[in-house]
Amino acid sequence: MTQASRDWWRDAVIYQVYIRSFADGNGDGEGDIAGLRARLPYLRDLGIDALWINPWYPSPLNDGGYDVADFRDIDPRFGDLAQAKELLDEAHGLGLKVLLDIVPNHSSWDHQWFKEALAAGPGSPERARYIFRDGRGPDGALPPNNWRSVFGGPAWERVTDPDGTPGQWYFHIFDVSQPDFDWENPEVRAEFLDILRFWFDLGVDGFRIDVAHGMVKNMNGPDLPYDESGLLDRPSIADHPFFDRDGVHEIYRGWREVADSYDPPKLYVAEAWVEPAERLARYLRDDELHSAFNFDYLKSAWTAADLRRSIDDSVSTLASVGAPATWVLENHDVERVVTRYGREVTASGTGHAGKAKGEVDVELGTRRARAAALLMLALPGGAYVYQGQELGLPEVLDLPEESLQDPVWERSGHTERGRDGCRVPLPWATSGSSYGFGSGGSWLPQPDGWGELSVEAADGEPASMLSLYRDALRLRRSIPSVEPLAWIDATAEDVLAFQRGRGFACVVNLGAAPVELPAHREVILASGPLDSDSRLPADTAVWLAV
Ligand code: GLC
Repeated sequence: MTQASRDWWRDAVIYQVYIRSFADGNGDGEGDIAGLRARLPYLRDLGIDALWINPWYPSPLNDGGYDVADFRDIDPRFGDLAQAKELLDEAHGLGLKVLLDIVPNHSSWDHQWFKEALAAGPGSPERARYIFRDGRGPDGALPPNNWRSVFGGPAWERVTDPDGTPGQWYFHIFDVSQPDFDWENPEVRAEFLDILRFWFDLGVDGFRIDVAHGMVKNMNGPDLPYDESGLLDRPSIADHPFFDRDGVHEIYRGWREVADSYDPPKLYVAEAWVEPAERLARYLRDDELHSAFNFDYLKSAWTAADLRRSIDDSVSTLASVGAPATWVLENHDVERVVTRYGREVTASGTGHAGKAKGEVDVELGTRRARAAALLMLALPGGAYVYQGQELGLPEVLDLPEESLQDPVWERSGHTERGRDGCRVPLPWATSGSSYGFGSGGSWLPQPDGWGELSVEAADGEPASMLSLYRDALRLRRSIPSVEPLAWIDATAEDVLAFQRGRGFACVVNLGAAPVELPAHREVILASGPLDSDSRLPADTAVWLAV
């Protein structure tokens, strides 16, 4: 295997499969492995390099599968291990790599270990796998401290002892059904090394690491100064007691050894909401993780200044540790970009509650999302595409309240609707049962008109978002990937223009008025109609041969 093929991930485009909403093969209203296998040719033809599949483990799905009851199996709703193996073989046969999602910060309360912890009582080795503490105040009736769950409400829950009396409290950064592991416990560390090997041995090519900045905690830390900041947000204090603690890096050095013991080596991608970029780079040192989602880019406003700052910061900071930048606009936790870019305020806050409010102009958002796709795919490094992004799906903002499933809805006291609006099952066909998602309806209701955004409607339509993504992903392969980005000094301040090597340039007009294009030989690809060969309309991007 050549070095280039070992380093496939450095400029890979990785497609995120939210399996529950991708394609339903067995007609139960939820996506599954069978549905995904049937659509692998679609993904190959799209032109991506790899898939990242959101958690498919047995789970009560209180947090969409991020509440894992068994890390070495597959939920029967999604399939079984034999089907997973077939999926891996088929994907590899089509030249696609497959990453899974590992959730090391917590388990589900349905996990065998947690059940054992409850049954065994205070001071037991079973409890020592999680974070149990006595409460404060008379009879321990108050939580051990004021820390809050990022989904809202306290981060502590009191248990009832086997004899029926109120007992200790356990810590959960997320939902009450997601107790945090105690990573000081060597048994927890050993268990996860074993889980990694289990899936690597099955043929999985790598992992996206959920809440990679969690795990290590200072449980003696002080009460926190909360404001009403967003969910998944962390109060910006140095030395946060449960996020981005230095001790986490030692864990990743151990994980890296496991990844490197395979040939070809396996890959890790960090989901780490840490700032500034220098803190993120620490996760990507040589002997730790390979890459990380660029949430700074995802949160940036649709302005030349904000994006350029984010691009420059990412490229230069990550270069200091030899890691490539990555670019991401959407995932299963944030508002779809067509909607976000269609608002007056286009920057997003952090995480689940960071959604801007206000009117949405979907046509404007779509035009910008098209330009943003060409910008993202021309930048050096890797990129992520969240399922449905290639169809230009908007956020579904009006899901009926009774259909909402995200725990954020309940835990925020019905003030935040949560993340279901970007998780609505995909439309594959213009009409028919759940627009081709499956034969048994869809677990979240699809809006009227969803079929107009379907793969069937977009296929072969030169002006569709799907055609743009297909063209861009194909043409991207000819951008000299080793060439760094060199800014072209643009004539207008709302323009981003850069070259990659001598022959290729990308120009994006983020302003309100058309601008002159730099000298070029040919327009290779444009995100929207051009009024002439030399002028670039507002909210439009082009790839040029120069
Ligand atoms: C990550 C996941 C999110 C989940 C949370 C808790 O942020 O992306 O969906 O709710 O972790 O596991």
